[in-house]
Formats: sequence, C-alpha cells, structure tokens
Amino acid sequence: MQLFDVYPLNNVEIVRAEGSYVWDSAGTKYLDMYGGHAVISIGHTHPHSVKLLTGQLHRIGFYSNSVIIPQQRVLAEKLGKLSGKDDFQLFLCNSGAEANENALKLASFHNGRKKVVAFNGAFHGRTSLAVAVTDNPSIVAPINRTPNVIFLPLNDQAALEQCFAEQGGEISSVIIEGIQGVGGIQAATPEFLRKIRALCDQHGALYIADGIQCGCGRSGKYFAHDWAGVNADIYSMAKGIGNGFPIGAIAIAPHIAPKYGMLGTTFGGNQLACAAAEAVADVIAADHLMENAAAMGDYLMTELRKLPDIVEVRGRGLMIGIELPYDTAELRKKLLFDEKIFVGASGKTVVRLLPALNITREHADRFLESFDKLQK
Ligand SMILES: Cc1ncc(COP(=O)(O)O)c(C=O)c1O
Repeated sequence: MQLFDVYPLNNVEIVRAEGSYVWDSAGTKYLDMYGGHAVISIGHTHPHSVKLLTGQLHRIGFYSNSVIIPQQRVLAEKLGKLSGKDDFQLFLCNSGAEANENALKLASFHNGRKKVVAFNGAFHGRTSLAVAVTDNPSIVAPINRTPNVIFLPLNDQAALEQCFAEQGGEISSVIIEGIQGVGGIQAATPEFLRKIRALCDQHGALYIADGIQCGCGRSGKYFAHDWAGVNADIYSMAKGIGNGFPIGAIAIAPHIAPKYGMLGTTFGGNQLACAAAEAVADVIAADHLMENAAAMGDYLMTELRKLPDIVEVRGRGLMIGIELPYDTAELRKKLLFDEKIFVGASGKTVVRLLPALNITREHADRFLESFDKLQK
C-alpha cells in the first residue's frame, strides 16, 4: 500500500527530539520554532510527560467511556484551575476538528437553531461542520457546503451588528479564533470579542472560542480570547494540551446542560490521553509557562521589529507572524536546511512562529541571529 499523497513534505526524517530541539536520521540537530504546528507546548519528550504516559501505559492504556475514568476528573480539575474556568464542564475527544464539531453541534442542540457566524480567514478544521465554518473553499467538499454559515469580516462590529439585527433569532453560534493561525496571525480585538459576547447574550446565541492553536497558554493567557475579559460559552482545545498525544476537548459553560447520549466518542478521554494532558497542565502551572510565553513573545517581537524589510510583526506571546514583502518559501527553506531551524508559514508572505512555551532567550537569540542573517 502507498501513502495517500496529500502532504508536500520537507525532505527531513526526524528521529529524536528533546525540549526545543529535534534530530534527523543523519544526526543533524534543528531548533524547533514551529512546535510541530503549535502542538509541542512543554517541549519534546518532556520528562514529566514521559513519566505520566509510561506509568499510565503500564497500568491501563484504554477502557471505554462506559466506566468511571478518574483520570478525566483529575484533568478537568487541573484544566479548570489553570484556565480559570473552574465552573465549566469538560468533554474530551480526539482532535481539534472534532472539538469544534462538538462545540457547534452542542450549541445547536442547546438553542435549537442552525445558523453559524464565522469570519473571513478562519480555520476550524476539516470535518463536516468544522470545515463548513472554515474560510477556504478549496478544502470544503460539495457535501460539506451549507447555507447555514455566514462569513463576516473579522473585527467588523458594524457587520456583526447588522447580521444579528437581520438574523439574530436564527443564529445558533458565533465561532472565532482568538488569534487566527492559518489566516496569518490576525488577532480578534478585545472590543470585537466583547461585542460577540453582548450580541450572543442579547439574541440567545452561543459564543464559541476556538482555542485550538491560540489556547493552552500560548498567548500569555490560557485562552487568547481571555484578553477581552469576557467568557465564551464553549472553548475548543487540542494541539498543545497533549504535547503531541492526540487529544481534543471542549470546556462548556455551566448554563449548558448535558443529556445522556448528546455527545460521545470511543477514544475521547482515554487514560493515556488524560495522562498526557495532565502532564502538560502540571508543567505549565509549575514552570509558569504562560508568563514565559508572554515574556519571550514580547522579546522576540520587539527584536524582530528592529529588523529591516519586515512589513509587520503580529501576534501575542509565542504565536507570532512575521509578514514579509515577498514569498517566504525560499527563506523558510534556507532557515531549515542552512540554519537548521523549523518555522511555519501562513499563506505565502507570513512566517509563523509557534515554539514550545518554555523556549529560552538562547533559543530566541539563535533564531533572531539566523533570521537577520538571511534577511541581509
Ligand atoms: C484554530 C484551529 N482550529 C482547528 C484546527 C483543527 O485541528 P485538528 O487538525 O487537530 O483537527 C486547527 C488546526 O490547525 C486550528 O489551527
């Protein structure tokens, strides 16, 4: 059997990883400023992750959601505390798309409505509802197209108000990334998020905060949406919360009542996934990684803004976009193969940094030096 060829690959085989470094099969060491696409939150093969995961695997790796899984309760408590959403309810699943799928479905169950407001540039995943609210027609299959999604310009309060004035009674939910990742590191303004909160309250719609890329402490607060100072009704999570172990989750406000059978999954919340996520929560809390993300992000962005020929440096904490006046493909190739540094991209002109939340000044300086050298 051949692999279904959907990924354009870098010709690198990573065989080992530790902290913010990875090694290829020839023994070459790379600095990881991409975090395997915002997934590596506490550093590769973190000893606490390895300890909790291997310990759990020796006891029991999986049993279904038909029995009590105490690890889920421990995780819910730790995530509640870390995120400041202690009174929310946790539902565990397996990926980001699945988290958003469940969030959108839950909102619709809750208010019995069908329409969803999403924003230009949004990426919410590739399953049916998640891709329907994603602003990229090339990944939306005919079967996923629905007239129930309304796309509006990001941060356009007037357009949002008008939409609610016209269709408020039909809108089930508004879904928004705190900072758009795929969309090029574009932040939702605090005023805009507060407007979403107010309009949802006024019209009986639910505010869904997609925290899959911008959450897990990356922005310096647990959810990037928290910078607005208002709560969403549902937060979706994945990527960083497992530090590489596949896990997705939604945190659900207390006013949304569960019902048996409403949501469900075979693998979601299994013992291993919970151990992985518990390790991440422990390390973020113990090592003050949200504070580190904020400080290292400020440092990187301040230094990057001093460099010539950059159109704009955007982001918060360790979710950074560097907009350049040219196609960055060549630059990224040189960063990888000459400077041995992994970075990400958004579209053609934005270099995207999504490193582990515990990067140090040394990692940041190494990146800045290489980036400056290649820019000259
Ligand atoms: C903001 C956002 N939402 C949802 C997803 C989908 O997550 P997954 O790939 O785990 O399904 C992603 C993945 O990149 C994302 O960045």
